[in-house]
Amino acid sequence: MKKIVVTGGAGFIGSNFIRYVLNNREYSIINIDQLLLSGSSENIREFSKNRNYRFVKGDIRDFDFLLKFFQREKKIFGVINFAAQSHVDRSIIFPKDFMDTNILGVFNLLEILRRGFFKRFLQISTDEVYGDLKIDSKEKFKEDSPLKPNSPYSSSKASADLISLSYHKTYDLDIVITRSSNNFGPYQFPEKLIPLTILKALKNEKIPIYGDGKNVRDWLYVEDNVRAILNVFENGKRGSVYNIGADNGISNLDLVKMILKILKKDECLITFVKDRPSHDRKYSLDSSKIKRELKHKNIFKFYPTLKKTVEWYKENIKWVEKCIDEDFKKYYIKNYKERLDEKN
Ligand SMILES: NC(=O)c1ccc[n+]([C@@H]2O[C@H](COP(=O)([O-])OP(=O)(O)OC[C@H]3O[C@@H](n4cnc5c(N)ncnc54)[C@H](O)[C@@H]3O)[C@@H](O)[C@H]2O)c1
Repeated sequence: MKKIVVTGGAGFIGSNFIRYVLNNREYSIINIDQLLLSGSSENIREFSKNRNYRFVKGDIRDFDFLLKFFQREKKIFGVINFAAQSHVDRSIIFPKDFMDTNILGVFNLLEILRRGFFKRFLQISTDEVYGDLKIDSKEKFKEDSPLKPNSPYSSSKASADLISLSYHKTYDLDIVITRSSNNFGPYQFPEKLIPLTILKALKNEKIPIYGDGKNVRDWLYVEDNVRAILNVFENGKRGSVYNIGADNGISNLDLVKMILKILKKDECLITFVKDRPSHDRKYSLDSSKIKRELKHKNIFKFYPTLKKTVEWYKENIKWVEKCIDEDFKKYYIKNYKERLDEKN
């Protein structure tokens, strides 16, 4: 049985990935996560008794920790790096956190790879590295489109992509990258648009929408993304990048209206707020490479999975309360707010 390390596996996509792999494949998984804000022990509780799974609390920014860990563990085949600071809004207020984890953390993992402690590295990236498109543009970003990131978040992810590709070229290391569009589904931290909208609507609270709400995102169901990620990890060509999109561009406003309709709530809950600085207008991916080379096919339809996601949050209000309690109290309120006060 192959032993792999998943970093950031207590977060949204990482925990969905681990769930999928434990249910569908024979891998032994070690999950390294710092349990920071969006990474919650609630997301991984169900795996704790699985004999193919182990959790290690750790920080990818800490090279000494990583080195000791990999020296101790033998025969690790590969690492899939989901660990990241992932929220664009926070990256605008505290960019350093993003540079530290999203660039230096990846650099640390690459240095461990270069020392021969494992064989294959998959870096999880994002469509945001390509920058944005005009609302009426028909263009789709391909894997070789120029990288033109606009936020501290997306620029930190683009930097990690470039460093990873340079390590492949310079040291002939086995590295692959996936760039997916916006994911949705269960276990997403409730600061992101879809869970935030559902939770605010359930409480009949105002739902904030940036600017005019016309910004377009291509929504991908998380299980389609984790199937694609596993496919790239198992079959992707060394040194290659793979886009993973859903061909499902929807404006933020239309998306929020859809959620309100599913919940039978009034659109008057919508409130337009001042736009995010440098807010990307539209993302759109050309995913033909992964379809052609790796025979990947998305299997989930948007509307039924959006309805399923809304139901999941309704039925798992306790999860929301616990992960907000756990994380907001420990990190968000103590750390983030204190630092905001310092700034003001
Ligand atoms: N969510 C999306 O729509 C989306 C789309 C495209 C790409 N991505 C990328 O996918 C990856 C996962 O995204 P997500 O939405 O699951 O994010 P998330 O914020 O839910 O999870 C990130 C995880 O990383 C952990 N982490 C953060 N810093 C760490 C550190 N220094 N050391 C160890 N662990 C650390 C957190 O505790 C958390 O468990 C990220 O790299 C993100 O850039 C996300």
